[in-house]
Amino acid sequence: MRLPEDELAALKSASLLRHIPDTDSSLKNFSSNDYLGLSQHPEIKQAYQEAIEKYGAGSTASRLICGTMEPHRNLEETIATAKGTEAALSFATGYATSVGVITSLLGKGDVVILDKLCHASLIDGARMSGATLRVFPHNHTEKLESLLQTATTKADANSRILVITESIFSMDGDAAPLKEISRLSKQYGCLLLVDEAHALGVIGPTGMGLAEELGIQDQIDFHMGTLGKAAGVAGGYLATSRVWAELMINRARSFIYSTAPPPAQAAAAAEALRIIQNEQGQWLRTQLWNNIDTFRAASEMTSHCQSAIIPWMVGDSDKALKLSSQLRDKGFLVPAIRYPTVSRQTARLRITMSSCHDTESIQALAHCLR
Ligand SMILES: Cc1ncc(COP(=O)(O)O)c(C=O)c1O
Repeated sequence: MRLPEDELAALKSASLLRHIPDTDSSLKNFSSNDYLGLSQHPEIKQAYQEAIEKYGAGSTASRLICGTMEPHRNLEETIATAKGTEAALSFATGYATSVGVITSLLGKGDVVILDKLCHASLIDGARMSGATLRVFPHNHTEKLESLLQTATTKADANSRILVITESIFSMDGDAAPLKEISRLSKQYGCLLLVDEAHALGVIGPTGMGLAEELGIQDQIDFHMGTLGKAAGVAGGYLATSRVWAELMINRARSFIYSTAPPPAQAAAAAEALRIIQNEQGQWLRTQLWNNIDTFRAASEMTSHCQSAIIPWMVGDSDKALKLSSQLRDKGFLVPAIRYPTVSRQTARLRITMSSCHDTESIQALAHCLR
């Protein structure tokens, strides 16, 4: 039998061992996904507390047994309205959403086509579905088209073909060519799922993401994302048509066989979405983008930032770890991202910006990096 000690030693010698860091509030945090600082927003905390008083600490059962309460319904209506869809479903996490949705949609005989840099939850869902898995190089729409051509030629009348992309990529911070991907998906009669995990709150006139920014929300079959990043709370969502949502209620195992998220979490998430869409959200987004510009200028970056995620490429895992540790000594929390989260020899520091950062800390971090 393989011993766990040996496996851990091998990870350590490759500079790939992970550990859970202690939170240290004295560090300037450039690693969270709290892009708008909503995890500390007083109105969201109040919505949480009031819902705990009203509904209790937990949901007590799965949604289909007796776990559905008013805040769950309200959250789902809020998401559907914001995304312009007929229906929405909330899940315990974004991970549970990806896995539940993709395995409900696809099975043997179907095809799933993903961007190479898609998040682990999307890859896991695709693998678990049993569908034939095809991958196109990152943002390479010509290759996507050739995979669509092959898949549609081979498909029979019953099979489903699903294209999956993130709108903003979690470790690279760049945007997908979403208009072209949605055009191709329509042209070949395929379904499109877009994960807006890192675009929600950050992009779009009301912060609903890249599809909203591009005016193509109605071209996307499945909008998914998480409420644990810019929304500052927790949970995942799917926004889609009524009939697809109904299929998920009947098929998505992570929805059916899991205790519903606490109603107070749903109430807080709905409040976060309300704030993201109103003038406070607009103001926070302006602050965030100003902070991103400040970092770009101070670090003398020449490339344009498409999101609040700025990868500082290092290459070697050991070097990335050392750099992260040096920054920690200088008072900054910036994690090293290594294989298998990113491909080998593309280790990096993942710098994330927030509307809460002050100019002085941003400039100091840029100065250290330079
Ligand atoms: C692109 C993407 N999708 C999905 C998820 C999963 O969301 P959650 O953290 O709510 O499980 C993440 C989180 O890391 C993500 O980055």
